[in-house]
Amino acid sequence: MHLQICLVICFALFPVHSRDIRESEESVLSENLISQINSAQSTWKAAPSKFMTWSTASIKRLMGVRPEHLMEIKQLKPLIHEIPNDLPENFDGREIWSNCPSLKEIRDQGSCGSCWALAAVEAMTDRRCIASNGTQNAHISAEDLLTCTSVGDCEGGSPVGAWQYYKRQGLVTGGNYNTKQGCLPYTLPSCEHHINGSRPSCDGEGPAPPCSPKCIDGYPIPYEQDKYYGESVYSIGEKQEQIKTEIMKNGPVHAMFGVYADFLAYKSGVYQHLVGPYFAGHTVKILGWGVTNSTPYWIVANSWNEDWGDNGFFKIIRGRDECGIESGIVAGAPKLK
Ligand SMILES: *[C@@H]1O[C@H](CO)[C@@H](O)[C@H](O)[C@H]1NC(C)=O
Ligand SMILES: *[C@@H]1O[C@H](CO)[C@@H](O)[C@H](O)[C@H]1NC(C)=O
Repeated sequence: MHLQICLVICFALFPVHSRDIRESEESVLSENLISQINSAQSTWKAAPSKFMTWSTASIKRLMGVRPEHLMEIKQLKPLIHEIPNDLPENFDGREIWSNCPSLKEIRDQGSCGSCWALAAVEAMTDRRCIASNGTQNAHISAEDLLTCTSVGDCEGGSPVGAWQYYKRQGLVTGGNYNTKQGCLPYTLPSCEHHINGSRPSCDGEGPAPPCSPKCIDGYPIPYEQDKYYGESVYSIGEKQEQIKTEIMKNGPVHAMFGVYADFLAYKSGVYQHLVGPYFAGHTVKILGWGVTNSTPYWIVANSWNEDWGDNGFFKIIRGRDECGIESGIVAGAPKLK
């Protein structure tokens, strides 16, 4: 009797479509979806991507923002900018801060829902370089944030928590996978879900690696002394002039948005959602903006390696909070050494 009641309640609480997306082993990304997108003659083009051979469960795993994010953003004190009269029509951080190499870098989560950590350390790294006019180039460690804090793991995490941890406890340096750069380089391998790639396959998706609060052999500075700190954490109003002013003054920002199936097939142009089911919340770094064929866009760095999208980057339509990209922005200032 009790079991029967429970079953009714449980099924009522879990809508059928979310069960399907979570548990299906087939990918939703098909040739059919790609031709549907391309025949729509929208502002962007789709192409077969590595995700075609991934199971839906594996793709979903890449998106790791905990649902509390929007609540946490609302609790932050927003930084309100006075809007300059001369905001440029086009602004590409990669060109503006050409003395800061991290602006051009694309990182790779590997098979882990660590987007919340990667987007955060990417923006922190850029901002240290920008604030010091290229004289301080600490490559902040995604590994340290992912494994040595309680603000998230490979199942997702808190962008606001990441910035607050950076301010309070600090983060050490660390390069990408398979580099000996910095104190704690990323230990999760980039992986290849398409069959004949050069990288190892993404089988055996596991939990986040354990925390190792000790720099790799040969790194000359002890872990505690390699910490870099943030000075402040704030949100940015969702008006695009506020976001532009913040990027122009202080560097790239950490943004959240909702991923639908069509986004996985993005290849070029200005993304706007056309077709396909919703997956989950994902976080990225916005580093500039522009206008093409009278379509306004943001320039965004993803963390799915350079073999996804436009060499790892994408553009998304600007000014209408597409998929929520303008309404969950967090950033902060660095404490320079
Ligand atoms: C920033 O650095 C560049 C060289 O990389 C230099 O030419 C420029 O004067 C510096 N700007 C300031 C404000 O110090
Ligand atoms: C992988 O390589 C094999 C042998 O070279 C080839 O037959 C197959 O079509 C390739 N698969 C893909 C997905 O490229």
